[in-house]
Amino acid sequence: MGNQIWTQNMVTKLIGPFSQIVTMHNLPLKGALSDDQLEIISQGGVLVSHGKILAVGKYTDLKAKFPASEKEVITEPMVLLPGFIDAHTHICFAGDRASDYAMRISGKSYQEIALNGGGINSTVAHTRAASEQELTELLLHRCDKQLQNGVTTCEVKSGYGLSVEDELKMLRAIQTANQSHQISLISTCLAAHTKPVEFSTKSEYVNFAVNEILPQVKLQNLSSRADIFVDTIAFDETEARIYLDAAKKLGFEITVHADQFSSLGSRLAVEYQACSADHLESSSDSDIYLLAKSDVVGVLLPGASMGLGLPFPKGRRMLDKGMCIAIASDWNPGSAPMGDLLNQAAVFGAYEKLTTAETLAALTFRAAKALRLSDRGSLSKGSLAHLIAFPCKNYQEILYYQGSLKPSKVWC
Ligand code: NIG
Ligand code: FE
Repeated sequence: MGNQIWTQNMVTKLIGPFSQIVTMHNLPLKGALSDDQLEIISQGGVLVSHGKILAVGKYTDLKAKFPASEKEVITEPMVLLPGFIDAHTHICFAGDRASDYAMRISGKSYQEIALNGGGINSTVAHTRAASEQELTELLLHRCDKQLQNGVTTCEVKSGYGLSVEDELKMLRAIQTANQSHQISLISTCLAAHTKPVEFSTKSEYVNFAVNEILPQVKLQNLSSRADIFVDTIAFDETEARIYLDAAKKLGFEITVHADQFSSLGSRLAVEYQACSADHLESSSDSDIYLLAKSDVVGVLLPGASMGLGLPFPKGRRMLDKGMCIAIASDWNPGSAPMGDLLNQAAVFGAYEKLTTAETLAALTFRAAKALRLSDRGSLSKGSLAHLIAFPCKNYQEILYYQGSLKPSKVWC
């Protein structure tokens, strides 16, 4: 705004009245939550200015207090929430893996398909063959879908390039999409997703990733986060330590694909003070105990269980043991092709017996914590005005329809 002088009537807008505003404000970051802990403002309004929230409260009070503000009058019943935060996706890719899916539902496992040359490496081939512009367009299209579903912040990983040129191409596509789309994108360099076919050993590839890919990503300021897939079918402890040590040394924040098929990654995530340990389908009780004691957010990906036809992670147990959990879509062409976060969270919550408060927390402020974002995830003074409104009178209807009730309005 340069040196333009701020005046209230010029920049403030009062939006409302909403049947309910569920602020998600002032709730604990870790552990179980009951619905009566939620702050619910009936007949509420939000005062916004320059993309930020100035006040949240009763609509009539705000109207009286800020008479000169512009008004956006809501005439239908609507419930307002903070925009959802999808803290783990792979939505920058080309091609599809419908044939992998057909093989899986006929009984082949994800691991078998990967070991036979399908899986992640087939998406790598398609993504390498796509131009930066094509990738950007595919990504923007998926961003449109995310926004329509109420996702206002979305993490996006590289990891289908696996060469210097193609990892940088993916990260530039994410940067361009972020600049041109309303949604807020957070990029993560997943150079250690799998060993690409041109390398003969995993350790050779990890050395290449730490010496050639990560430093370039840093130098070109294309991401501040680094991720690795730690698993029997991906990278082992020695390889993971080489990658994580190098990433930390370069100043990256860490996140780990952890305990998806075998337990190990979450222990490393705790040791390396990662922002999050993601997946956790195979976490043991001692892993859960370590995560609960730490600052690491467990990012659960029910869409991957749904896409693979495998059991969900133990969300109920994790919350009862005191963990901070987020729920993300893992949207990718292989294990989680659906890309509907609210549907996945609602179904997962029904199986795992999560309260409405716990599921909504996992999609908002606890997901913000996984990305170390402190300016969003709840509705209170100073937060970003990332708002989503569902066409209903009571917040309980949002999970009840298991994702088929879509937001009718999104401000971002
Ligand atoms: O989180 N597990 C590793 N990576 C992704 C799957 C990526 C793919 O299959 O293309 C996941 O499930
Ligand atoms: Fe993933």
